[in-house]
Amino acid sequence: MTEREFGVPIPGRVLPGERWTKTGHRDSGRSFDWTGVFGRDAVRVVDLGCGNGRYLIGSALARPGHDHLGIDLVQRAIDFAAHRANQRGLANVRFVTADAVKWLHERLTPDSVDEVHIYHPQPYYESDAAERRMLTPPFLERTWSVLRKGGLLVLQTDNKSYWGYLLEAVRRHFEPQVLPGPWPDAPKGRTRREILARQKGLVVWRMAARRLGVPRDVAVPRPDFDANRPRFRSDRRPGRRV
Ligand SMILES: C[S@@+](CC[C@H](N)C(=O)[O-])C[C@H]1O[C@@H](n2cnc3c(N)ncnc32)[C@H](O)[C@@H]1O
Repeated sequence: MTEREFGVPIPGRVLPGERWTKTGHRDSGRSFDWTGVFGRDAVRVVDLGCGNGRYLIGSALARPGHDHLGIDLVQRAIDFAAHRANQRGLANVRFVTADAVKWLHERLTPDSVDEVHIYHPQPYYESDAAERRMLTPPFLERTWSVLRKGGLLVLQTDNKSYWGYLLEAVRRHFEPQVLPGPWPDAPKGRTRREILARQKGLVVWRMAARRLGVPRDVAVPRPDFDANRPRFRSDRRPGRRV
């Protein structure tokens, strides 16, 4: 029977208790020591804003030769992610409750990661909250520097304005390849938010962007786009439902 959590199926199956692992990670205040934590040198995959960890758990099961790190601000989401990964006996994933922006700049070192995944970063609809958006020019520059040569940035959103921004913003450091259909490895959705978005009939946009060796001579715009949720607009007429 497929287990469900937060309304979506969780990949894999629960193993007997003696095979459970510990995948929760505590911030040591120092750089993340991949080799020390996982006891090997492998391909390294990071999910920033991983939510309930659905993508990383599926990837860790499907790609035992890769090591995975999931970061999210919300303790409850990370607790669930780590618990499910523990029950599946995974040794190649860790989850940490932390600010992904801080981790990108202060815990992940340059030239140390092979894949950075970001699924459905929050668009922050309120006009005064735009500066909380995760993907900014410094964020993209640091992602480029943390990735190893040939590394991959995977981005996905169901917000058309954010997508338009991302397509332009990644061009300085990455060669984006837009993926028109569903993920071959997860046709119904890699993440919880993707599954829920598709259930609501929303379009999901995705790209796999390959790291450039040398950045292009183009500017990265600031993420000050209108996320286009009329309910949050200050010019909205009072009392009108949208
Ligand atoms: C819309 S949810 C998407 C979750 C998951 N990626 C998915 O697709 O199901 C956005 C997630 O980003 C997390 N988040 C937002 N800002 C963050 C930050 N600065 N650092 C870490 N996580 C963050 C939120 O807590 C939330 O879990």
